[in-house]
Amino acid sequence: MGRKKVTVVGAGNVGSTCAVWIAAKELADVVLVDIVEGAAKGKALDLFEATPVLGKDVKLVGSKDYAETANSDVVIITAGVPRKKDPVTGQFPSRDELVKTNQAIVGEVAREVAKYSPDAVLVIVSNPLDAMCHVALNESKFPAHRVVGMAGALDTARYKSFIAMELGVSVKDIHGIVLGGHGDEMVPLPRHTSVAGIPVRELMSEERLQAIIERTRKGGGEIVGLIGVSAWYAPAAGAVDMAEAILKDQKRVIPSAVLLNGQYGYNNLYVGVPAVLGSGGVEKVIEMQLNDEEKAMLAKSSKAVSDVVAVLGY
Ligand code: NAI
Ligand code: 2OP
Repeated sequence: MGRKKVTVVGAGNVGSTCAVWIAAKELADVVLVDIVEGAAKGKALDLFEATPVLGKDVKLVGSKDYAETANSDVVIITAGVPRKKDPVTGQFPSRDELVKTNQAIVGEVAREVAKYSPDAVLVIVSNPLDAMCHVALNESKFPAHRVVGMAGALDTARYKSFIAMELGVSVKDIHGIVLGGHGDEMVPLPRHTSVAGIPVRELMSEERLQAIIERTRKGGGEIVGLIGVSAWYAPAAGAVDMAEAILKDQKRVIPSAVLLNGQYGYNNLYVGVPAVLGSGGVEKVIEMQLNDEEKAMLAKSSKAVSDVVAVLGY
C-alpha cells in the first residue's frame, strides 16, 4: 500500500493548521493549495522544515496548480472568504452575498479537485458549512457518501470542553453529541451526554447545563469576539479527526454534515447527524431515537439550513 495523500485547499488559518495536525500525526503527505501561491508554498516549506525536529516522515508541498493534488485520498476544503467590512464602503456583505461568493469559490475548487482526484473523499469546512456541502456535491458530481461536512466534530468538541471545564474533570471522560446545522440553532443533546457513563443531569443543575448549551451554540462567535477572526485550532482538529477516520478506515462515529435522503424525515438536505466514517467516506448514517422536543429543535435547525441552501439556486 502506497503512502496516503491529503490535499488541503485554502492555506489560511484553518487549512494550514490542518496541515500541522496531519504532519504531527504523520497521517499522510500533504498538498496545500491556495490562490495565493506564495502562502501555500511558504507554509508547506516552513512546515516541512519542522519535520526533522518533529521526527515525522511527511512530504509537504504548496501550489496553486491542482495537478499537484492528483490521486489524493482525502481533500479538505477550507477555501473561502470571511465576513468582513468593505474598507471603501464600510458595509458588510449581506449573508446571501457571502453565500454566493463562497459558492463560486467552493464550486471552482470542487471541480478542479474532482478532475485530479476522482476517487477522493471531500471533507468540507468552508462556511456556510451545510450549504457549501451542497455546492461541493453538485460541482464535484461525486456520490454523496464521498462529500461530508465538518461541523458536528467542532460543535461537539466545544460542548465537551465546556462540560469538562464546568465539572473540573478530564475532557476524555465526556461523551456527548451535537446535531443539526452549523449555526445558532444547532442541537446539543443533553439526554445523550454523560461523564464516564453518568448522565450529565445528575452532575449539574439544569440552569448550568442550559448555559453550556447556549455557549456551545455561540461558540464560533465567542472566538471571533476574542480574536477578531474566526477559530482555527479546534476546527482543524475536527477536520483532521474526520480525515484520519477515513484514511485509516476506522469506522469512527463522528457527527458530520451528510446528505439525508429520508433519514430523520429529511430529503436532499445536508444536516449534522452521527455518521460512521471509513475508507468509503460516510459508510452509514445512524438514526437516533429523538423525542418530540429534540425533533422540534432539529426541524428548526434544518429549516435554517434549507433557507441558506435556497440561495444557491440549484
Ligand atoms: P482564511 O481567510 O484564513 O483562509 C481562507 C483561504 O482560502 C485564504 O488563504 C484564501 O487565499 C483562500 N482562498 C480563497 N479563494 C480561494 C480559491 N478560489 N482557491 C483556493 N484558495 C482560496 O480563513 P479560515 O479562518 O482558514 O477559514 C476558512 C473557511 O472555513 C471560512 O469559510 C470559515 O468561515 C470556515 N470555517 C468553518 C468552520 C466549520 O466548523 N465548518 C470552522 C472554522 C472556519
Ligand atoms: C466556527 O464555528 C466560524 O464556523 C466557525 O468557529
